[in-house]
Amino acid sequence: MIALLLANADGPIQNLSIFDPVSPPAESIRSLSVLVLAITAFIFIAVEGILIYAIIRFRRRPATGSAAGANAMGPALSPEAGRGGTAGETEPPQVYGSKPIEIAWTAAPALIVFVLVLVSARTLWEVNVPPPQPKEKDNALFVTVVGRQWWWEYQYDYYNGKPIRAVGTDGKETDLPVITANELHVPASAGGVSRRVFLTLKSADVCHSFGVPRLAGKTDLIPGRVNAMWFQTDQPGLYVGQCYEYCGTQHANMLIRVYVDSPDVFEAWLANERKPAVEDLEVRAGRSAFLGQSCVNCHRVRGTPARGSYGPDLTHLKKRETLASGMVDNNPVNLLAWVADPQKVKPGCLMPAFGLSDRDRNNIVRYLLTLR
Ligand code: CUA
Repeated sequence: MIALLLANADGPIQNLSIFDPVSPPAESIRSLSVLVLAITAFIFIAVEGILIYAIIRFRRRPATGSAAGANAMGPALSPEAGRGGTAGETEPPQVYGSKPIEIAWTAAPALIVFVLVLVSARTLWEVNVPPPQPKEKDNALFVTVVGRQWWWEYQYDYYNGKPIRAVGTDGKETDLPVITANELHVPASAGGVSRRVFLTLKSADVCHSFGVPRLAGKTDLIPGRVNAMWFQTDQPGLYVGQCYEYCGTQHANMLIRVYVDSPDVFEAWLANERKPAVEDLEVRAGRSAFLGQSCVNCHRVRGTPARGSYGPDLTHLKKRETLASGMVDNNPVNLLAWVADPQKVKPGCLMPAFGLSDRDRNNIVRYLLTLR
């Protein structure tokens, strides 16, 4: 047990706190949260304070020592005092209607709500920036995010004003965009140059919600609708998030990993992603097994006849650190388990077990491991 805890302590830090922002939209959201928490905490303390004061101050006191009790109630009590037997059972003065109090407790909450509306509107304004037109030398990255049951598709559209196009096996640009899954790589702002990231959010099936708390708030991905969000940070690292809208069985395993790389690392990563899949003659058997099976109906491996677009693009699968939308590490053991029976790893996911022979399965995994 202790070994397990220690092992976990060494693992990646999964910071999902909105109070630790590294990007302007997340900072706006934190400021708003702190302000709202402060206002509501003040109201809570004031209301509860008055309530507790009233409970103690005007509690029913024992009849003995009634003189002190009656005195505490004040002379206003006297009309009632005559009625009920002992002083302990007398009623406090009954107040019916008070214009100043009515005005005060209508105006004060209205004012508070008005202030909250204003600050919320300002925050929305800062967070919900519609993506601008990509311009030459704007240092901005434009990515289309497609939510799918239960993984994320990332389509790289523009970087620094230029459209991102995949390169064919002949070395020429194709008209295909660069598509990857589950792990979003973006450049960090550096050297005084801000590199903003604009996401266009769509859904291929049901409602999802994209959220990485330290970078930006949550935004829904709704079928038939296009939403947007943006962020920008100068702190490279891994930022985690998840789907925030219940979208079916594996909603909880629709994890998001955003890798903020230094600009050089990001550009090298993107250059590699643009290339078609490597052709390794050593894994010819696996390649033809892969191409001969129904894998190709759902998956694309650029540069091969596999052109499916229903499942994740596998052109550079080995460059991803995790499988199944962040559920497990991308290593040979997990990959083999996945290819053998995805339902054991992620029950309910849309990839069935294909009942491959041991030989085909091993060969296919060997082939997939070469897709760097
Ligand atoms: Cu996708 Cu919840």
